[in-house]
Amino acid sequence: MAIKWGLIGLGNIAHQFIQDLLLVEKTTCHAVASRSADKAEEFAKRYQVPNAYGSYAALLADPEVDIVYIATPHSTHFEHTLRALQAGKHVLCEKPFAVNANQVKKMVTSAVQQRRFLMEAFWTRFNPSFEYCLELVEQGVLGDVNYINADFTFFRNDPPESRMLNMDYAGGSLLELGVYPLFLAYMLLGKPREVKAVAHFHETGADLQVGILLKSDRGIANLYSGFKSQSDMVAKIYGTKGRIYLEPYWHETQGYELVVGNDGSYQSEKAQLPTKGKGFTYEIEECLQCLQTGKLESLKWSHQHSLDLAKLTDTVRQQIGLQYPFE
Ligand SMILES: NC(=O)c1ccc[n+]([C@@H]2O[C@H](COP(=O)([O-])OP(=O)(O)OC[C@H]3O[C@@H](n4cnc5c(N)ncnc54)[C@H](OP(=O)(O)O)[C@@H]3O)[C@@H](O)[C@H]2O)c1
Repeated sequence: MAIKWGLIGLGNIAHQFIQDLLLVEKTTCHAVASRSADKAEEFAKRYQVPNAYGSYAALLADPEVDIVYIATPHSTHFEHTLRALQAGKHVLCEKPFAVNANQVKKMVTSAVQQRRFLMEAFWTRFNPSFEYCLELVEQGVLGDVNYINADFTFFRNDPPESRMLNMDYAGGSLLELGVYPLFLAYMLLGKPREVKAVAHFHETGADLQVGILLKSDRGIANLYSGFKSQSDMVAKIYGTKGRIYLEPYWHETQGYELVVGNDGSYQSEKAQLPTKGKGFTYEIEECLQCLQTGKLESLKWSHQHSLDLAKLTDTVRQQIGLQYPFE
């Protein structure tokens, strides 16, 4: 039987997510919910979803919804995840999972207590090129991986009250974008022993630019997130025997370049691994697979992975003196 999804918060990412959801077999979008009934109706009509609710609570009360996708601003992930779990739903919650590690711990505890599946929607983890890159690293094709250079930066000119810059929403580049380069370094170099970070801030207090250096037992990562410029968005992974470039935009990459050989002679191979849809399909398939096999967390992007990532953003925030007003 198909897994029935319910979507909460019908903004930008929910529109992208549902288009991929409709590509995945054995899943259906059963219901959508917005704080506005009109918006929910319009969204439901556009994507032919059978049920539209004008409140999130109404969707959570629908006994037919198996799993809820939470696509609301960062600062509300914690509350909506707990409510969904308490209503007996499985949950896929957008990144950042929550605004700090303390919230993530409570979300995980609740999922374990309720015996419900819970995963952070860290879609890059399931991207085919990223997965292939992980395989190459595990096979030792790059030798010892010891240096990562990755950023995530767009030029944006958002108004101060926007989700990007509003501190009540935990706005700023770190939680919006910086989680991606942190994820890459964490996956390939492991948990860091030292973290150094610097930042520039908007007048709202939101971080506009964050530079991060991580030192782990295996090597060093040089990372950056920002709203003040557009970078080439290529992620670079270096080892003793070669390197991989994840092509732009690397967090949703459709291909890679592998270069093997660190002396004068080297071999280079470029390949395309196009995603099904935009690429949310893979995290949706992971949820499906976990639910079908009775798993309460993904092994590929587990509760511990999310917790480690949240601890990392907490450490960066400590270094740059970033606190949200509601904490
Ligand atoms: N995985 C990715 O690639 C990716 C990309 C973009 C964003 N995201 C994540 O997804 C989340 C949503 O981002 P978005 O770009 O979709 O944001 P958005 O366009 O602003 O949409 C967020 C939605 O949340 C709902 N909401 C609930 N409480 C709200 C409040 N107090 N103020 C404003 N809206 C509220 C609204 O839906 P209703 O009006 O329908 O209730 C709103 O449309 C963020 O946490 C972001 O980090 C992930």
